[in-house]
Amino acid sequence: MSDSVVVAGAVCDGGRLLAARRSAPPELAGRWELPGGKQEPGESGEQALVRELREELGVEAEPQERIPGEWPLKPGLVLRVWTVRLLAGVPSPLEDHDELRWLTPDETDTVDWLDQDRPAVAEAVRRLREA
Ligand code: CDP
Repeated sequence: MSDSVVVAGAVCDGGRLLAARRSAPPELAGRWELPGGKQEPGESGEQALVRELREELGVEAEPQERIPGEWPLKPGLVLRVWTVRLLAGVPSPLEDHDELRWLTPDETDTVDWLDQDRPAVAEAVRRLREA
C-alpha cells in the first residue's frame, strides 16, 4: 500500500513566511509548522492543501510549486510541501493552531519548527531570499 500523505504550505506574502504554532496534540503543542493536514482519498495534493488552508486559516490560497522531496512522519505517513500564494483573506488560527507569525528570512530561526518541517522551511527561505 502506498504511504498516506500530509500536505503543508509554505505560505509566502510580502517576503515573509507564515509559521503556525500547534495547539494539539500535547506532544506537538507549542512547536511551529507549515500549516496543512492529511490528503483525503480522491483529492490531489494541491486540492487537499487548498482545503486545509481554508479550514485552518480561513484563507483562499493557491499552491505554486512543490518543494522537492518528502519527509517521513511515522511509518506509512509522509509530508509533502508546496510554496503557496495567498489569494484572499487574512490568515487566522481557526483550527489546530493558537498563534501565527509572519517571519522574514532572518527571523525563521526564531521559532521551534517541527523537525520534519525544517528541510522544507530551509528551501522556502532560500527561495524567499532569491525572490
Ligand atoms: O488536520 P489533520 O488531521 O488532517 O492533520 P494534522 O493533525 O494537522 O496533521 C497530521 C500529522 O501531520 C500530525 O501528526 C502532524 O504532526 C503532522 N504534520 C507535520 O509534521 N508537519 C506539518 N507541517 C503538518 C502536519
